[in-house]
Amino acid sequence: MGSLGNIWVTRKIPQKAIDMLREVADVEVWEEELPPPREVVLEKIARLDGILPLLTDKMDAVAMDRAPRLRVIANYAVGYDNVDVPAATQRGILVTNTPGVLTETTADLAFALLMAAARHVVAGDKYTRAGLWKTWGPLLFLGQDIHHANLGLVGLGRIGSEMAKRARGFDMRVRYYDPIRNEAAEEQLGIEYASLETVLRESDFVSLHTPLTAETRHLISERELKMMKPTAILINSSRGPVVDQKALYEALKSGTIYAAGLDVFDVEPIPEEDPLLTLDHVVAVPHIASASYATRTRMATLAAENLIAALKGEQPPTPVNPDVLGSPRRRR
Ligand code: GLV
Ligand code: GLV
Repeated sequence: MGSLGNIWVTRKIPQKAIDMLREVADVEVWEEELPPPREVVLEKIARLDGILPLLTDKMDAVAMDRAPRLRVIANYAVGYDNVDVPAATQRGILVTNTPGVLTETTADLAFALLMAAARHVVAGDKYTRAGLWKTWGPLLFLGQDIHHANLGLVGLGRIGSEMAKRARGFDMRVRYYDPIRNEAAEEQLGIEYASLETVLRESDFVSLHTPLTAETRHLISERELKMMKPTAILINSSRGPVVDQKALYEALKSGTIYAAGLDVFDVEPIPEEDPLLTLDHVVAVPHIASASYATRTRMATLAAENLIAALKGEQPPTPVNPDVLGSPRRRR
């Protein structure tokens, strides 16, 4: 007990991972429903050797400078835009994430949003429950076809590729844009490479699968939305700020595009009074793309494995900045 030092897990995560950590270190878990306030993070971090934060916890240089002992930030997410990775690298702190284990589960939800937005599944449910359904209606809740439609993927990483596989079952034509062309994936998945503009202009569905970086912030803004078809549906399960949310509201409101399926928002939680939530053609869910029982457990155990390996001075399974392994703080 306690041999690997002090670890803080910033929220309740599946117990299996907590048990793994407790076997080798002193573990404290933040048991509240809401994230720890910033002051609490800044206070706790001072005595930590390892932290297992969520995407809601900002791990920046200020926090790191309060943490003379900290050797690893084991993020419980594949995305790590909440972590200042260059600042961590500079300080010899290893950063890890949870890629791979959530890929298919995330693509499942993105496809569910695509289908729900196209066929008004959520609005139809509300209508039925509200007692508004009077008769079978030839024009009731008409939507867009999914089968044989054009799907445009922005970003062809693991999750984008899984989207392409799902689309194949619906006989969709898939185009993708990514700064890096992947001809092997094109062959394997039966998809076509195109410019971002072509993807936006030709697609019936545009699904976003990029990380949030300086380059992808507001990648989809007014200009890009205007390139899309008036019947097009935007799906975002990546990060909210990849889309200019005000421009998206305007585009939906004015009929520039048809609908949107959103798992992520520029501010999370999205405020109840956000105008986006007044639109029937928006399906909005609370950042749950990886939220299956099995996947959240696999993310937790992977984060724990990363953290334990890092504290043992070993190569963790999925490091973000592996170069840190040979740096001064690591060797200490
Ligand atoms: C969730 O959004 C993740 O990045 O894992
Ligand atoms: C993230 O896992 C991605 O590569 O899409």
